[in-house]
Amino acid sequence: MNRTLALASMLLATTACGTKIDPVQQVDYGPLDVPPAGVTWCKDIQPMMARFCITCHDSTKSGADRQGAPTGVDYDTYATVSASALAVKATIQNGSMPPGGSVPTVDQGLFVEWIDTGKRECGADTSEDIASDVPDVPATPDIPVVATCTSGKHWAVADGQGFQMSPGGNCITCHAGKANAPSYMLAGTVMGGLHDEDDCDGVLGVLVVIEDGSSPTPRIRTYTTNAAGNFFLETGSADITLPYRAHLSGGTTPRAMNSPQTDLNCANCHTVAGLHGAPGRVLAPQ
Ligand code: HEC
Ligand code: HEC
Ligand code: HEC
Repeated sequence: MNRTLALASMLLATTACGTKIDPVQQVDYGPLDVPPAGVTWCKDIQPMMARFCITCHDSTKSGADRQGAPTGVDYDTYATVSASALAVKATIQNGSMPPGGSVPTVDQGLFVEWIDTGKRECGADTSEDIASDVPDVPATPDIPVVATCTSGKHWAVADGQGFQMSPGGNCITCHAGKANAPSYMLAGTVMGGLHDEDDCDGVLGVLVVIEDGSSPTPRIRTYTTNAAGNFFLETGSADITLPYRAHLSGGTTPRAMNSPQTDLNCANCHTVAGLHGAPGRVLAPQ
């Protein structure tokens, strides 16, 4: 904890310019609690398939639910994905799947690394399974959340597309395959309420700190949210070693993501209700 607070105050000193800053700081506050593990089915590949492929290629689906995916071409089990790993690699690399979208470069890289390291099913040691640190809660909570808009301000289509569009929306997935939309490797929105709805403006000027998985010294990158609460990083503009951890500083209670993550698309988990164990939005420090 002291470590986090000390870091937060050091970084606050660097925000004076108020714009996006991306220094590679030599701040040594120890290694990640969980060392970067090898790529495994349980930790990386199954979630990737769940996100990009099994809406259609799922052995438990039939008929129209498969949306035209050929019968028998399924990616919901370790056995089928490892058996057809080269076909999967080819389709994600040539961009033909998923239809109308694409698998981000970081995920493509993980998939190739998985093949190259022997298509491991789960970590030999369960502490290697970073995903196992995430509480096992259902994707759709039983109790519906009541959506709020703490800022009281909304972005509307009429406001135009750009850096302040769609706060809380999934910038990366929506932009994939759209010629005039920037491709982001990291993106998210810091909101004023845990359950603020999509298009509700978030909080300006929060410092988002990404501590990557570089060993022995994690690299620290910082981004400052804009008037919509959005922050983002264009594909290819930085090298971030996975897994990473995120902290927010400012206010009297800096916030930190305890479990390291391998997905830089915050909106995949920090939705209005929260997915994959996330409690809801990335919430601004109070
Ligand atoms: C929205 C539904 C959908 C999603 C999501 C999807 N596919 Fe497909 N897939 C299809 C359809 C429809 C076809 C058959 C037509 C075609 O080949 O374009 C297909 C065909 C394929 C084939 C060729 C199978 C063959 O035997 O010819 C492969 C390989 C494949 N998909 C891999 C993937 C992978 C890998 C993913 C995830 C990265 C994925 N698909 C996501 C609908 C989908
Ligand atoms: C539901 C889909 C969708 C979501 C979500 C979305 N965008 Fe966009 N965005 C678009 C489209 C479509 C365009 C391209 C418009 C065009 O054709 O000129 C675009 C364009 C942009 C542009 C370029 C505008 C220009 O004039 O060059 C920026 C910057 C941008 N988006 C940022 C973001 C950010 C940041 C987020 C997430 C907080 C985000 N977008 C979320 C659909 C989306
Ligand atoms: C794969 C899912 C996932 C993704 C992607 C993800 N998170 Fe999280 N996040 C979680 C989970 C689960 C928690 C709660 C457990 C914890 O703190 O680790 C969490 C918690 C947090 C917290 C602490 C919340 C609090 O109020 O104390 C912050 C801050 C945070 N995430 C920021 C981010 C940022 C910034 C990104 C994108 C760069 C991101 N997260 C991407 C799953 C995710």
